[in-house]
Amino acid sequence: MTDFGVPTVKMYHGLEIPQLGLGTYKVPPEEAQRVVEEGAEVGYRHFDTAQMYHNELEVGRGISASGLKRDEYFLTTKLDNGNHLPDDARRTFEKSLEDLQVDYVDLFLIHWPLPTLYDGNFIQTWETLQEFYEDGRARSIGLSNFLEHHIQPILDQCDVKPMVNQVESHPYMQIPELHAFHDKHQIVTEAWSPLARGDVVDDPVLTKVGEPYGKTASQVALRWALQRGDIVFPKSMHKERMRENFELFDFELTAEDMRAIQSLDQGDAGRRGSHPDTMDRL
Ligand SMILES: NC(=O)c1ccc[n+]([C@@H]2O[C@H](COP(=O)([O-])OP(=O)(O)OC[C@H]3O[C@@H](n4cnc5c(N)ncnc54)[C@H](OP(=O)(O)O)[C@@H]3O)[C@@H](O)[C@H]2O)c1
Repeated sequence: MTDFGVPTVKMYHGLEIPQLGLGTYKVPPEEAQRVVEEGAEVGYRHFDTAQMYHNELEVGRGISASGLKRDEYFLTTKLDNGNHLPDDARRTFEKSLEDLQVDYVDLFLIHWPLPTLYDGNFIQTWETLQEFYEDGRARSIGLSNFLEHHIQPILDQCDVKPMVNQVESHPYMQIPELHAFHDKHQIVTEAWSPLARGDVVDDPVLTKVGEPYGKTASQVALRWALQRGDIVFPKSMHKERMRENFELFDFELTAEDMRAIQSLDQGDAGRRGSHPDTMDRL
């Protein structure tokens, strides 16, 4: 539990992640310092960025300006698609640390598996991330947008098992099979776009579920993910919404509520982002 009442989830190697964080995708560099500082004021102690977001420098400045000590927050960044080859991964990981102004990140992820690029060789990339874990500059390492058939070769061939897989998941795309696969292999599920990029805010089912608790559809979607055991980091550039997205710990959804939300699943048709098997952009 963080000071602000956010529960944590323990990864298999013992490190804990605050279950709620602040996402920074599409937060432009000129806004990122302010957004992160405001997030820290609201109580966020977990920040999710990526080389691809081009805001690591400003996210780092926001954290520094907030006065948080290094052991008071959890920081994630991700390897960009053009940087999978070992020397590129090593060079750009160092640049991420420099931009973020830290000696280590709490979690470093391969952003996309890119099975159609690099001859599909993400084993080599994973082995490079293992170096960062072993030398302590990444306290945890994980995957993002990997499907079961991308993860299995890593489990079969590599020394360190992924601690996390960060994948698209929200009420319209609930990925029950991948979720079960993660659980079986002690991989923590991080749910990206937990608000379906903002599409849940007017959902009639979520709105109705929230009424007895005095909660919004967004709060219900986030609470549902937390009760599944997932890690979420909704993105907002507005402090009021950051606060709304933080107020999740004074109510609990019933089994009936959870079933009502389950009925919203559209499977793959609910996907907002790219498909991991065909995403091939550098
Ligand atoms: N690993 C990956 O490939 C990957 C992919 C996508 C995202 N992510 C991570 O996941 C994070 C979250 O995903 P996301 O940014 O795609 O989408 P999201 O968090 O599901 O939704 C963000 C959108 O919802 C709006 N919003 C937020 N809170 C709201 C509220 N309470 N009421 C109304 N609107 C609200 C935001 O607008 P305002 O900002 O204007 O408030 C923004 O347009 C990202 O920021 C990133 O850190 C990872």
